Amino acid sequence: MSSEAKEQLNPETVRGAFDRDFSPFESYHGNEGPGGRSLAELEADLRSLNELRIKHTGKKSLLAALKKEIGRVPAEARAAFGQSATEVNNYVIERIDGAQANLKAYIGVLQQERERLDVTLPGRRVRRGRAHPINLVRQRLEDVFVAMGYAVEDGPEIENDFYNFEALNIPAAHPARSVQDTFYTTEGFALRSQTSTVQIHAMQRRRPPLRVVAPGRVFRRDTPDATHNPMFFQIEGLLVDRGISMAHLKGTVTEFVRRLFGPQTVTRFRPSYFPFTEPSAEFDFSCFKCDGRGCPLCKHSGWIELGGSGMVHPHVLRAVGIDPEEFSGFAFGFGIDRMCILLYELDDIRLLFENDVRFLEQFD
Ligand code: DAH
Repeated sequence: MSSEAKEQLNPETVRGAFDRDFSPFESYHGNEGPGGRSLAELEADLRSLNELRIKHTGKKSLLAALKKEIGRVPAEARAAFGQSATEVNNYVIERIDGAQANLKAYIGVLQQERERLDVTLPGRRVRRGRAHPINLVRQRLEDVFVAMGYAVEDGPEIENDFYNFEALNIPAAHPARSVQDTFYTTEGFALRSQTSTVQIHAMQRRRPPLRVVAPGRVFRRDTPDATHNPMFFQIEGLLVDRGISMAHLKGTVTEFVRRLFGPQTVTRFRPSYFPFTEPSAEFDFSCFKCDGRGCPLCKHSGWIELGGSGMVHPHVLRAVGIDPEEFSGFAFGFGIDRMCILLYELDDIRLLFENDVRFLEQFD
């Protein structure tokens, strides 16, 4: 062995090399406490100490080499050499063991600290949620119709051409398509532009006689302003049975607005056109704010426009395999957001879709 190697294997050298590596952990061995180190840092130190143990006591360590060296030391010096080698060995092991034991204790304390629950701390106040004003109105509408014997139907928001247009008697190139321009996907599916689509689903699912309302979200290609939004809500009504006439439609709509706004409310029907009804009518009701005398809400007309309605077109019944000779029906539809704006006297439909909590908090 070279003299340089011999020099390295001096017990003092081995101790010196260990001391240099161990110096950052000295305080743990000395039991001076974790010194403001975080749990993560202490855990990292514990891992470093494990590596240090392998480096300084493992098979390839200087200490191991030192022990092997004992046999080669001349007999007269062997006992002394062996004793100091043992001392260094104990020194290294005692330091690492001590530091690790303390470190583990500190880690335990911090872990417990982290998991401790202070039951005397004041709780975090849960902010109470509220139903969205559109849902509040929707629930009121559903309640009225359910009380009148209607079932609440749901339909998909993504539709194909058949449900959104074709079955509703709006064939390709029909001008009624352009006012209901909507959003299309590359597969040709469209976001429904009206809840009238649910008429078709409901008739396919339930077969007549049936009575349903279908509230839901609809979409149109519109630029948002105070009265338009590309997404809004409608509620659709449909009744199909034997011997249904326009009188039933008028009676139903009139009863509905009376239940919603009070028994003094009157309705009026104006002839109109919708592809899926014949005859068709738009209906208004007397202003609930001024009882028809005229006020800013009804623009001094005494009337508030509500929606469209009519007798279900025979083509629509045929599209779902219902015989128009046997069954007839009426349908109606109107905007829930519009109703919401009227009821809460809002001046901008966009308020309903901005999700500003300061606005939404006001409704109960
Ligand atoms: N779907 C029509 C629209 O969005 C509203 C409507 C009119 C619905 C007449 C009906 C109806 O059920 O009979 O403008």
